[in-house]
Amino acid sequence: MIKKTAEILVTGGAGYIGSHTCVALIQAGFMPVIVDNLSNSHPLAISRIEAITGTRPAFYKCDIADATGLGTVLERHSCAATIHFAGLKAVGRSVSEPLETYRENVCGTLSLLQTLKSRGIKRLIFSSSATVYGGAEHMPIPETASIQPTNPYGHSKAMIEQILQDLVTAAPDLGIGVLRYFNPVGAHVSGEIGEDPQGIPDNLFPFVSQVAVGRRETLQVFGNDYDTKDGTGVRDYIHVMDLADGHVAALQRCLDTDGLFAVNLGTGQGSSVLDIIKAFEIASGRPVPYEVVGRRPGDVATSFADPSKASEMLNFKAKRDLAQMCRDAWNWQQRNPTGYANR
Ligand code: NAD
Ligand code: WQD
Repeated sequence: MIKKTAEILVTGGAGYIGSHTCVALIQAGFMPVIVDNLSNSHPLAISRIEAITGTRPAFYKCDIADATGLGTVLERHSCAATIHFAGLKAVGRSVSEPLETYRENVCGTLSLLQTLKSRGIKRLIFSSSATVYGGAEHMPIPETASIQPTNPYGHSKAMIEQILQDLVTAAPDLGIGVLRYFNPVGAHVSGEIGEDPQGIPDNLFPFVSQVAVGRRETLQVFGNDYDTKDGTGVRDYIHVMDLADGHVAALQRCLDTDGLFAVNLGTGQGSSVLDIIKAFEIASGRPVPYEVVGRRPGDVATSFADPSKASEMLNFKAKRDLAQMCRDAWNWQQRNPTGYANR
């Protein structure tokens, strides 16, 4: 049993999910050691983690592929485990720039794994994605569904999952948790940290909140002719603090148990685009004007998780409902109308 005060290396810990997970880690008694190259995040996130928790995590501006820099960090801190968020997540860009995605995600992770191996760090949680299931035919999606990604981003996640499986086969005393997130949304209830996309948001939630706050005029709804209850796409939105709690639960298991496990992190509930618009209007008290346009290439009609494995294996269940996701996203948006900074 590893003591709860253990230091945990958190790659990408200044980013959206990483910063929320650092809050949950500190509140659970762990000490995050953040390594982030700040390619998609702002250093202010570190001060905001401190504002929420009263604890300032160690922070190093460093790329995961910089073995020397990472080695120096790991000499200073004796980390019991790694939570690995760092990587590129934009699906569209992965299609237009596949080499960049494979280099950052696959080569970056290989380099990280080599450094961790040389330092004897045997416990790892990896950020995978429901995107590895591609267009799954049956809902809800269990972890046993076939892995059939449809874009380079999804392939990069599936490749890393395979590498991790092969590592555990070669060294069964490793403890690795693969977490397949569905659609993370919302923000910490304080409004200190939240999602801060650069440029035009690709994802529904940040787009809706930017429309509500008046930064953008109209939401485009990508298709209302799907085979769903109102014709718009259905997804499993999970509050980012529930996701953060899921990481703490997964970390606790992986610290105590050898081998690899893969679990979905979702709620098991599907919400349509129109559901989100309505819920956001109620939470914000603002209208969210929208127009229906054609389908976005690559989108599926419906995706939601079978969350029962996480419940049985990790004793984890998402607690926060859609109304809270919208309230917290809106609170963050109002308190930080242009994100962490005027970029
Ligand atoms: P994010 O971009 O906010 O966070 C990623 C962080 O990693 C950023 O702070 C970025 O600066 C850093 N980073 C990127 N490349 C790096 C490198 N080479 N070295 C060091 N730091 C680097 O993204 P997020 O939404 O917090 O996602 C975190 C992880 O979860 C990613 O691996 C993503 O693929 C995965 N994921 C995200 C979602 C989602 O919808 N947000 C869904 C499923 C899976
Ligand atoms: C949700 C719904 C859209 C924007 C993506 C990635 C996935 C994962 C999570 C990382 C869909 C509709 C959206 C808009 C819209 N990321 N929509 N207007 O596509 O489920 O998943 O983020 O791992 O890999 O693909 O999320 O938020 O983009 O879309 O109508 O402006 O909202 O068509 O039905 P998605 P999303």
